[in-house]
Amino acid sequence: MSELKYAYWVPNVSGGLVVSKLPQETDWSFEANKRYVLAAEDAGFDFALLQTRFFASYGAEYQLEAATLAAALASVTKKINLISAVHPGLWHPGVYAKMMATLDHISNGRAAVNVVSGWFKGEFTGYGEPWLEHDERYRRSEEFIRVLRELWTEEEATFKGDFYRINGAPLKPKPVQKPTPPIFQGGNSRAAKEMAARVSDWYFMNGNTTDGFKKQIEEVKELAAKEGRTLQYAVNGFVIVRDTEEEAVSVLRDIVSHADVEAVKGFGEAVKQAGASSKGKEGMWSNSTFEDLVQYNDGFKTGLIGTAEQVADRIIELKQLGADLILTGFLHYEKDIKDFGEKVIPLVKQKEVQLQKEVISV
Ligand SMILES: Cc1cc2nc3c(=O)[nH]c(=O)nc-3n(C[C@H](O)[C@H](O)[C@H](O)COP(=O)(O)O)c2cc1C
Repeated sequence: MSELKYAYWVPNVSGGLVVSKLPQETDWSFEANKRYVLAAEDAGFDFALLQTRFFASYGAEYQLEAATLAAALASVTKKINLISAVHPGLWHPGVYAKMMATLDHISNGRAAVNVVSGWFKGEFTGYGEPWLEHDERYRRSEEFIRVLRELWTEEEATFKGDFYRINGAPLKPKPVQKPTPPIFQGGNSRAAKEMAARVSDWYFMNGNTTDGFKKQIEEVKELAAKEGRTLQYAVNGFVIVRDTEEEAVSVLRDIVSHADVEAVKGFGEAVKQAGASSKGKEGMWSNSTFEDLVQYNDGFKTGLIGTAEQVADRIIELKQLGADLILTGFLHYEKDIKDFGEKVIPLVKQKEVQLQKEVISV
């Protein structure tokens, strides 16, 4: 079994990872993010995920641009991989392929991309760009990924699509990673899953229940098998580790009872509209409750809330379901990242060794 990997959401958007007025020791600034990435690298995290957000919205007033910040974080770190989220439609894939090749050189092979197809109509109309219908956004994202791959691997790339045209374009230097930097992608809709099966390396999931994850992973695996491909799977979970389960649950209750109700409801309406416009109306967040949306990627649902022992057990369960990577978010970034590295990551490893011994001795 391959080793489980860990990622954390970079809080490059103000307001933290929960839309709550409960005080959070989490800051969006560059200086703070420099401290968090160094703490995460030290703690044993493999990836940092930088969000893309351009406009103030739903409790997030300030945002640092993902790729620019990734380049700065790359220059102060040595091991951690930096995943920059990108919106096709706001970037040309040729320009972005060049940026990521540059980041791969700055970081010596630690660049990765998360291609997001978007829910935030206001960002597109605000920048004067057309807002495409749901499945059309995925068609464009798929072309975007195909162009990235062409430019990263071909001497001279040519691509004739409905959204992008590339005419004998060279890209030098090629990225350090071969064949290409990893491409991540999320989304619950059928269009998202089909696109993942065809062109992505990693499939990101919002927080979910055991059954929810199982269903999603099975569906994408089946679609990928039809394409003769295999993917890796990443699950999101908000982490609250405390000495007792009661303490951890009481922190969750505090986060939810202090929720910024107006912001959570506004976000809920925006994302549900985006998901409802998918063909099967099964887009991400379509079943999310008010409480789920307080962590805007349904992170509470995953159940990484309790003692270190309980959280480690749940992580092992997620791995057994097929997760290759756990994407984490925290309330008090610096302290919680350190705690996770000290208490949870080694405990998971210890438990896995124990489990393997038990399997061998049976
Ligand atoms: C792990 C993860 C990270 C995401 N990051 C961003 C982001 O940084 N910016 C953004 O606008 N959307 C982000 N999204 C949302 C996607 O753009 C998309 O709206 C969402 O996956 C819904 O897709 P669906 O309608 O196919 O279910 C993210 C989704 C996931 C699962």
